[in-house]
Amino acid sequence: MGTEVEVELPAGQERVRLRRLDPERVSDVELDELAALVNRCYRSTDSWTHEAQLIAGLRVTRERLRMYMDDRDVVLFVGELGGRIVASVKTGAVRDTVIGPLPPERAPAGYIGLLSVEPVLQSRGLGRALVLFAEQFCRQQLGLHRMALDVLEPRADIIAWYTRLGYQLGTARRPARKFMMDKGEQLVTEHDFDFVLMEKALA
Ligand SMILES: CC(C)(COP(=O)(O)OP(=O)(O)OC[C@H]1O[C@@H](n2cnc3c(N)ncnc32)[C@H](O)[C@@H]1OP(=O)(O)O)[C@@H](O)C(=O)NCCC(=O)NCCS
Repeated sequence: MGTEVEVELPAGQERVRLRRLDPERVSDVELDELAALVNRCYRSTDSWTHEAQLIAGLRVTRERLRMYMDDRDVVLFVGELGGRIVASVKTGAVRDTVIGPLPPERAPAGYIGLLSVEPVLQSRGLGRALVLFAEQFCRQQLGLHRMALDVLEPRADIIAWYTRLGYQLGTARRPARKFMMDKGEQLVTEHDFDFVLMEKALA
């Protein structure tokens, strides 16, 4: 399995090429473009599923992306179309997620985060293709047998979406408010809610 793949969108002839970002060579311009995509997808109402109704502020900045990439276990893929970054997924082996350490018998697992598809390209199968690609990468390149990800519990639509992809909700959870405030982000709602863990065993 190479680090470049082509994903043919089911509804058209356009092909989105996935490229692994090289921490040594990635430019500030690329990271700014990626951060803008992620923020547009997560924190605006242009996506069919987003978190703008729950959290205000930037989901990610160039500096935070650089910080992620300082961790050699983190692998960032971007999807490009017509020379523009239109999709992303952060993956790699983890023993901890936002929620805390994974149980030893279920660690390490492949992670899925920063999953973003340009809003005008959504609902055409690209998000699903990115998840399946990350799973294949973790299985084949990293030898992992499980996947894990964190979601915000009120996001019933994305939980249902991951469930259709074979992910199961566990019982592990972490209150979102303090975690978000420590990152400089604010909950939009007065009521509190949690991050919850979803996991999948890879075939
Ligand atoms: C989540 C995200 C990556 C999905 O990307 P996508 O390209 O739209 O995903 P797909 O086209 O593969 O998925 C389409 C699915 O969503 C469903 N869907 C599409 N529009 C929908 C809507 N308005 N409401 C509910 N489901 C919808 C489709 O029925 C389809 O279901 P299926 O896969 O069971 O057939 C994208 O919406 C996004 O970037 N969201 C913002 C960031 C985010 O929330 N990331 C995940 C955080 S955990």
